Amino acid sequence: MPLSIAIDGPAASGKSTLAKALAKKYGFIYVDTGALYRTVGLHVQNLCLSSQDKEGIIEALPEIHIEMRLQDGRGEVYLNGRPVGDEIRTPVCSLYASDVSKLPEVRAFLLSLQRDIAAKNNVVMDGRDIGTVILPNADVKLFMSAAVAERAKRRWKEWTEKGVTMTYEEALEELSRRDENDQNRTVAPAVPAPDALPLDNTGLTAEETVAAADRLIRDRLGDRLRQAATCL
Ligand code: CDP
Ligand code: CDP
Repeated sequence: MPLSIAIDGPAASGKSTLAKALAKKYGFIYVDTGALYRTVGLHVQNLCLSSQDKEGIIEALPEIHIEMRLQDGRGEVYLNGRPVGDEIRTPVCSLYASDVSKLPEVRAFLLSLQRDIAAKNNVVMDGRDIGTVILPNADVKLFMSAAVAERAKRRWKEWTEKGVTMTYEEALEELSRRDENDQNRTVAPAVPAPDALPLDNTGLTAEETVAAADRLIRDRLGDRLRQAATCL
């Protein structure tokens, strides 16, 4: 049976930074499930639908064909046969992703794709509901957190470096709105699974976070990790 490491937590808590580093360290596949919701959000945005247009979004789902192809140790997302790029990372697309992800129809639409990858590969999968809904039997579950002011600073810095004009206050507002959406939705809210290990990385560098997570994972998996990891 392949091994699965689930990493959940709020936006900019450092999930993808950690998940990518762990996948590289262990030789596992990195699966960014947020990219799937962002891709649905992008399609809806391209159709010029409002992110609140529930019926319109549900009607559009049959036209959306999303695949994850394994490339260079990660699942690359394809939308209707084309690879998606940074257009899914814009602030507007983030809010579209958050809004479409509230719909049970959208969550159901993306469920088997996520489970199929984990059934066939050793994975580090990050998202909001990996430990609770997608992989309730994941071998290790981490739930990341970091103070909202620090998360907003990280996101503001990331966007500024990419040339997006945005103030710290705008970054904070966008994150807070998504936190509210993600934590309070009725389906698959972003909450820790009862057996998730908490990892607060406020004030930690990415390297310190990887070291802390690696300790937790080795404690939990022991020899199973040594047998599965291709590069330890
Ligand atoms: O990277 P960041 O944490 O900003 O967001 P993301 O992981 O790319 O996810 C974008 C949005 O998709 C989130 O705000 C969630 O609303 C949604 N999402 C979800 O509902 N479930 C997941 N497993 C992953 C993402
Ligand atoms: O995936 P998620 O949205 O949870 O966060 P991320 O994309 O891994 O991290 C958001 C930003 O914070 C990135 O620019 C990371 O480089 C940065 N980061 C950081 O400064 N310190 C950490 N310990 C983790 C991430």
